[in-house]
Amino acid sequence: MCPGPKVPKSWSSSARRRRALSHSESSSDWARFFDLLHPESGDRILDVGSGAGEKAARVLAAAPGSEVFAVDPNPKRIGQAKRDHPEVKSSVAGAEKLPFEDAYFDKAYSTMAFHHFLDIDKALGEIARVLKHGGSYVLLEVEPRSFAGRMFRFFGRLMGEPITIMTEAQCLSRVRAGEGFVVDGSVSLGSKYLVRLRRT
Ligand SMILES: C[S@@+](CC[C@H](N)C(=O)[O-])C[C@H]1O[C@@H](n2cnc3c(N)ncnc32)[C@H](O)[C@@H]1O
Repeated sequence: MCPGPKVPKSWSSSARRRRALSHSESSSDWARFFDLLHPESGDRILDVGSGAGEKAARVLAAAPGSEVFAVDPNPKRIGQAKRDHPEVKSSVAGAEKLPFEDAYFDKAYSTMAFHHFLDIDKALGEIARVLKHGGSYVLLEVEPRSFAGRMFRFFGRLMGEPITIMTEAQCLSRVRAGEGFVVDGSVSLGSKYLVRLRRT
């Protein structure tokens, strides 16, 4: 099992901060997310930066017969995931070094975690490696100019955490400049956006 990168100092330590950064998605955001991810029975699906696994459990519930794996570099969040969602296969790992063999997954996604990745190019390279050709990676991100985006940046700076929040346009051009994926759709949700990438 890969030990993953250094755990952000404070993510699990401050309930107040977690409340301030609360990012509950509306049901219509979720409907769009599920439209893009399209989880199906028989799929192997990876949640990268899963936190305590709530989203992974929802994806699994939406696609009975799929297998959902969750990784996060924070052992406390993964401990919670194992306790609260034992039906999800959780392990401690960062996006930059995924403990899976090549072409293992049909689909992958990250919800509100992409901006935490320490090295976006390396993370995208790893996600591409573990996806089958033709597989998809969906990311849900926050717009930096939104209230939530400003809060994320403020607390990130306060806690000394490296956070890279991109606009939808910046995110799309960053992905286009990289290798392993093509952009296969994006949806603006106001303060958030969804991007779907297709593994080439
Ligand atoms: C805002 S939380 C989102 C958690 C979950 N995806 C959700 O939507 O509830 C961001 C998560 O990214 C994780 N994270 C931080 N650095 C990471 C990295 N390098 N690779 C993967 N996940 C990372 C954090 O530990 C944290 O659990």
